[in-house]
Amino acid sequence: MSASAAPNELLLNVSDYARAARAAMEKKAFDYYEGGALDEVTLRDNTESWSLLKLYYRVLTGTGARDLSTTVLGQPVSMPILVAPTAFHKLACTAGEVAAARAARAAGTLFILSSLSNTAMESVFPETGSPRWFQLYIYKDREVTRELVQRAEAAGAEAIVLTVDAPGWGTRERDVRNSFSLPEGLTVENLSPLGKGEMPEMPGSGLAAYVRANFKSDLGFDDLDWLCAATRLPVVVKGVCRGDDARRCAEHGARAVVVSNHGGRQLDTAPATCEALPHVVEAVGELCEIYVDGGVRRGSDIVKAIALGARAVLVGRPVLWGLCVNGEEGARHVLEILRRELDEAMLLCGCGKLSEIDSALLGP
Ligand code: FNR
Ligand code: LAC
Repeated sequence: MSASAAPNELLLNVSDYARAARAAMEKKAFDYYEGGALDEVTLRDNTESWSLLKLYYRVLTGTGARDLSTTVLGQPVSMPILVAPTAFHKLACTAGEVAAARAARAAGTLFILSSLSNTAMESVFPETGSPRWFQLYIYKDREVTRELVQRAEAAGAEAIVLTVDAPGWGTRERDVRNSFSLPEGLTVENLSPLGKGEMPEMPGSGLAAYVRANFKSDLGFDDLDWLCAATRLPVVVKGVCRGDDARRCAEHGARAVVVSNHGGRQLDTAPATCEALPHVVEAVGELCEIYVDGGVRRGSDIVKAIALGARAVLVGRPVLWGLCVNGEEGARHVLEILRRELDEAMLLCGCGKLSEIDSALLGP
């Protein structure tokens, strides 16, 4: 739960929030937030790989005020920094997903609610601004999945984000060792009305057991076709790392793809997302929008992502750490830190707007 709020001036960057969150959180919950699959190779690579890319800045460009604004699926956002769908925000603070949604609204950016939230979508979406999207896991029970989609539409979701990199559950050994499950009083609230809100308490990961029992594992492009036919909302596919898959998703109706390896929590030794991104950009071209997430911790990472061809980035753990340290204000502050750092990096690169960030910045 939230620590006594550390003064903002001691929290200069995302890493400061990570350290403060580690100090404030109960180990089991922090490990769940921070952990990756198996040896956590991809978890580390996601962050380190951004720092290995160098920015060949331009000089004497006469850059004045910067404009960080853009659109995602035609919806305006104040900056190309979006809030990734992450589960179980009430592990971080009592207000949970409502706090995160309000922080995203305050920052003027997109909020994506996880299927596995501790707060029902009907309670969260009224607190978000626009855009607000709903992330969907496809359940074995097609009618459960259909109901989630219909409720999301009715609750005001403006797109459905289909997560496709979790046909099975990446083994998070920290969760196994900790026998991670939801503490008393917390549920998978969106699924409670459907009788699937409880997470098992057991030796090993209760979340892994929940996923094995409920998520459809033989996901195919027919499931993407089904979803595109089942909703009037645009569909975004999250969790691609290959250009051929991304192109095929677009050909099957995806309006955007997220190059993502689930923050290193699924297949360990998957490529860092900044390594996968160029392949997707080359294969997809203008067929759909391309976003990327994984290890984004500095504004300069965002410049690099855009230089590689992403339209925007999503951030996951940084927002969770903000929530844990200081609830809505902490999450908002983390987003503002990343905005400030992006603005600074753009100025120092000689870029006044996002369209001026191009691949030439990554090398002569
Ligand atoms: C996630 N992620 C995730 N993705 C998704 O599609 N549905 C979900 O419910 C969750 N839940 C979740 C919980 C936690 C604790 C983490 C850390 C991640 C993955 C998330 O959307 C995103 O892809 C990564 O978090 C991005 O990497 P960073 O920014 O956390 O490094
Ligand atoms: C995770 C799920 C909930 O990575 O997506 O924990």
